[in-house]
Amino acid sequence: MCGIVGYVGDNNVYDILIKGLHRLEYRGYDSAGIALANPSGKINIYKSQGKVSNLEDFCKDKNLEAKSGIAHTRWATHGEPSDNNAHPHFSEDGNLALVHNGTIENYQVIKDALIEQGCTFQSETDTEVLVQLIEYIKIKNNCNLLDAVREALKQVVGAYAIAVIEKDNPDRIIAARNSSPLAVGIGDNETFLASDATPFIEYTKDAVYLKDGEIAIIEKGEPLKIVTLENKESKVDITTLEMSISQLEKGGYDHFMLKEIFEQPTTLRDCIRGRVINNGCNIMLSGVMDSKEKFLNAKRIVIVACGTSWHAALLGKYLIQDNCKIPVEVEYASEFRYSNPILDERDIVIAISQSGETADTLAAVKIAKDMGAYVYGISNVVGSSIPRETHSGTYIHVGPEIGVASTKAFTGQVMVLTLLSLSIAQIKKTMPYEKICELGKAIIKIPSIVQRVLKLNDKIEKLSMKYTYAKNFLYLGRGYSYPVALEGALKLKEISYIHAEGYPAAEMKHGPIALIDAEMPSVIIAPMDHVYEKIVSNVQQVKARGGSIIAIVNEGDEIISKMADHVLEVPEMPECLTPIITSIPLQLLSYYIAINKGKDVDMPRNLAKSVTVE
Ligand code: G6P
Repeated sequence: MCGIVGYVGDNNVYDILIKGLHRLEYRGYDSAGIALANPSGKINIYKSQGKVSNLEDFCKDKNLEAKSGIAHTRWATHGEPSDNNAHPHFSEDGNLALVHNGTIENYQVIKDALIEQGCTFQSETDTEVLVQLIEYIKIKNNCNLLDAVREALKQVVGAYAIAVIEKDNPDRIIAARNSSPLAVGIGDNETFLASDATPFIEYTKDAVYLKDGEIAIIEKGEPLKIVTLENKESKVDITTLEMSISQLEKGGYDHFMLKEIFEQPTTLRDCIRGRVINNGCNIMLSGVMDSKEKFLNAKRIVIVACGTSWHAALLGKYLIQDNCKIPVEVEYASEFRYSNPILDERDIVIAISQSGETADTLAAVKIAKDMGAYVYGISNVVGSSIPRETHSGTYIHVGPEIGVASTKAFTGQVMVLTLLSLSIAQIKKTMPYEKICELGKAIIKIPSIVQRVLKLNDKIEKLSMKYTYAKNFLYLGRGYSYPVALEGALKLKEISYIHAEGYPAAEMKHGPIALIDAEMPSVIIAPMDHVYEKIVSNVQQVKARGGSIIAIVNEGDEIISKMADHVLEVPEMPECLTPIITSIPLQLLSYYIAINKGKDVDMPRNLAKSVTVE
């Protein structure tokens, strides 16, 4: 949700900032802007509505000379996407320029007070309020920029990651964070700043992740200095990044989403590596081993997450209840945080988040910790906020996911939840050894089975043509296939803008059945499992109303295949392992329908990959 890039060094800053903005475009793309600290003592700001490429066009004939600067790609919160509301924002006298990710909740009160002091505003944003406040304090207290930033941030309520530059000090950036991510990249005589490490990975592997309440002073020729809001010096903790540049490129695919769908055999292999050993008979997650006593004594598990991660959480409930016999509740993190949750030290809260930065999930983690629960994180981004805030956890290790619609992260999350349930089952002895071995062996085969399922690509591309102009879709599944139906519907909505609803198949007759006619296709997820017979009657109910059916079934299926208009066959798996397999054709179906409609699948309208605001 908004991306920040900054640079101080000896190289041409414009190219570095623009490249960085492209890497962060997944975080928001309704407008972009850049502030260049010109050595002649002027800050040049260029902004443009729309994507970063619009900004590049706009900058073509501009003065781009500078060795330091800050830049921003926006996902609007306060004020519509427009040139005016785009960041960076100047302070009234043009001395300071600031970019911001997050929301300042008390901005109106501060704005009113500043207006009373004679300040005028050019935009509707909360960000401009912050830069004006910093300037106001700087002048009023006759202090330096760092002290003014510290003072201003003490008055602010809300989430922020900010970067500020000053006309009189062109080689310095002051940056701060509270609940929104910021990383500093330390190179040779150059320092980078960004919302995540992707903009600087090709220049340096040394990164420092700022913590809440910390302020970084990035100055040319000086080592990085970090202080707190109280001006106490903090330790500069350098992490060595493992990411590679090829992971951030499309590698011959038309879109990141397609690349990420096709990467799944590899990402699932990476996710399993070292965790399923002894020929499948030993399933070990180090996070579970570290928290063995907690899992042995847990009276309840609550899983919190948002979006696609919430669908993975629902599968986690089936997996943990079936395999470990521990009651599980699943909550939207945004609801959980305001629901007066009742938790104690025998509860385990699992927070699932691809980015590790989702504001609602992070807030839920903090509440759960405060209430004494043991908090376990499942995330993809190493060093992100949620893994840092949780007691222990597991990374899904699927590599950077750039496409806004989550694909490989979903299957990675489901895989980790599967391993987690089996790991707990092993220590709690809630499953016979033979059953664990059987599932472990099947898990080892999943990457090659996914590879086989991806061969459906051409068939799905052809099939997608028939449904490109459908206005509504219904996705139905039962048991383990119900969350898969929800995720399939979400994928279609996100990237094709077709209305789609996921439903537990049997519940369909209590409402959605009224919508079914020849115009409304239903996607039925019906692998051979203990509810297969039940779903057959749901398929009959759809057929009886003239609805067309796309069925995901197992190879050799004889009943539903005969009833469906289109059949996509996937290999049969043990029931609790089917979701990873059945979700792949649904990802491809959404992708091709969106492509047929000419939509931007990697950057769908109004969405952002990482939602760091409430
Ligand atoms: C956004 C993304 C979704 C994602 C959700 C939760 O809405 O567009 O793809 O599922 O946030 O993100 P998280 O990083 O917490 O999994």
